[in-house]
Amino acid sequence: MESIGFTNLNLDDVDGVYSLWSDEGATLFTNFKYLATKDECQQRLEKMMAFYGQNRDHFGPFVIRGTDGNFLGLTGGDADGSAPGTYEIWYFVRRDYWGKKVATTAVQHLLGLMKNSGRVKLVRAEAVVDNEPSWRFLEKLGFSRSGQILAGHKKNGKTWDRYCYSMPVI
Ligand SMILES: CC(C)(COP(=O)(O)OP(=O)(O)OC[C@H]1O[C@@H](n2cnc3c(N)ncnc32)[C@H](O)[C@@H]1OP(=O)(O)O)[C@@H](O)C(=O)NCCC(=O)NCCS
Repeated sequence: MESIGFTNLNLDDVDGVYSLWSDEGATLFTNFKYLATKDECQQRLEKMMAFYGQNRDHFGPFVIRGTDGNFLGLTGGDADGSAPGTYEIWYFVRRDYWGKKVATTAVQHLLGLMKNSGRVKLVRAEAVVDNEPSWRFLEKLGFSRSGQILAGHKKNGKTWDRYCYSMPVI
């Protein structure tokens, strides 16, 4: 991936988010709900925008864009409330762009923004144990596994453990 850019997520991005949230397999190990129709995506996007509009302590949500402006995915980071300066990141790339270093380029950019803000001391992330692409990705970025939450992820009547990762911002 040569370069990517970020724009702030807005209601015009419904087609892009639909490409993520209507992918049942890709949503399985995320906190995003699988949504089969664009109408449902529109409603969920409105709720998400309202949630983030409440002046919460967060980075993003950002749309990851290719050089041609294409919607490639979403990413962001939220204060997790556990301690001042501790933020949890999340990331979701469109399936047809997997394996092209989009997540790597985007999350490195996100981490740079977090570092430059001066308000982030520790970045955390969680990955479902069966979501090997996600936890391998975190390890490649330099995150260390700090623990495991038993039965930390529930979807479609099933339960999985989650790995916890963290990386100090220095
Ligand atoms: C996890 C995800 C973000 C990876 O995005 P991506 O753009 O394909 O990742 P990259 O191309 O930047 O890969 C970087 C590293 O991640 C790991 N990785 C990515 N895909 C992998 C796979 N299928 N199997 C094993 N490791 C994988 C590798 O370590 C890879 O480095 P390498 O190519 O040098 O081996 C993407 O699969 C995705 O969006 N999944 C659905 C959403 C999700 O699960 N999000 C996480 C929970 S919030």
